[in-house]
Amino acid sequence: MNEIVITTKRLVLKPLGPEYLESTNAYALNRENARYMCFLPYRDSEETLAKLREFETEWAKEKPEYYEFAVLYEGRHIGGVSVYFEDGAGELGWIIRKDCWGSGFAAEAAEALIDHFSEKGCTRFIAHCDTENKASCRVMEKLGMTRTAEYGGRKNRASETESFEYRYELVTAPFTSSGD
Ligand SMILES: CC(C)(COP(=O)(O)OP(=O)(O)OC[C@H]1O[C@@H](n2cnc3c(N)ncnc32)[C@H](O)[C@@H]1OP(=O)(O)O)[C@@H](O)C(=O)NCCC(=O)NCCS
Repeated sequence: MNEIVITTKRLVLKPLGPEYLESTNAYALNRENARYMCFLPYRDSEETLAKLREFETEWAKEKPEYYEFAVLYEGRHIGGVSVYFEDGAGELGWIIRKDCWGSGFAAEAAEALIDHFSEKGCTRFIAHCDTENKASCRVMEKLGMTRTAEYGGRKNRASETESFEYRYELVTAPFTSSGD
């Protein structure tokens, strides 16, 4: 088991797994909370549990292809951040429970994730969001990401119709242990 724990000024990021079922349901089953997401909301608690088990299985691999973290604030699970690796780039994702929006938690958690995986050698990060998802766009800007593309054909799970999305990218300097 990879036991990566990342600590920020206010948050602790820990591997997301089945022990967080109830607190994951609080945002992952909430249609308003997951309105602009492609893979959420989950249908029911059973689907949440199945996904959390998948995350746990991935964490147990020697070389996971993705990492799903629980975001903890004062010991309480308030959301998730993730990074999925493909072709050397890390695709970032985030969700915070609605009653905790607007306090900078998503940006703080994602910045720590970028720092952690930059140190591990990843220098390119990407993220996508619905063009209507102003809060997520703002998180990307706060992270120093640059908007590089706009596409149609996005299908958010809660929506009947397709929408548009932005792609944002960030290239970080290669990490050196001497700090230069
Ligand atoms: C996107 C999300 C994770 C942001 O979480 P958060 O902890 O509130 O994010 P932060 O506080 O770090 O930053 C949000 C920023 O968006 C801004 N914002 C929020 N709503 C906005 C709106 N409607 N228009 C413009 N800016 C907005 C906030 O003011 C803040 O910017 P600031 O720090 O400059 O004031 C949260 O809204 C969420 O969970 N949404 C549902 C899940 C989701 O859509 N995830 C992304 C999928 S691509």
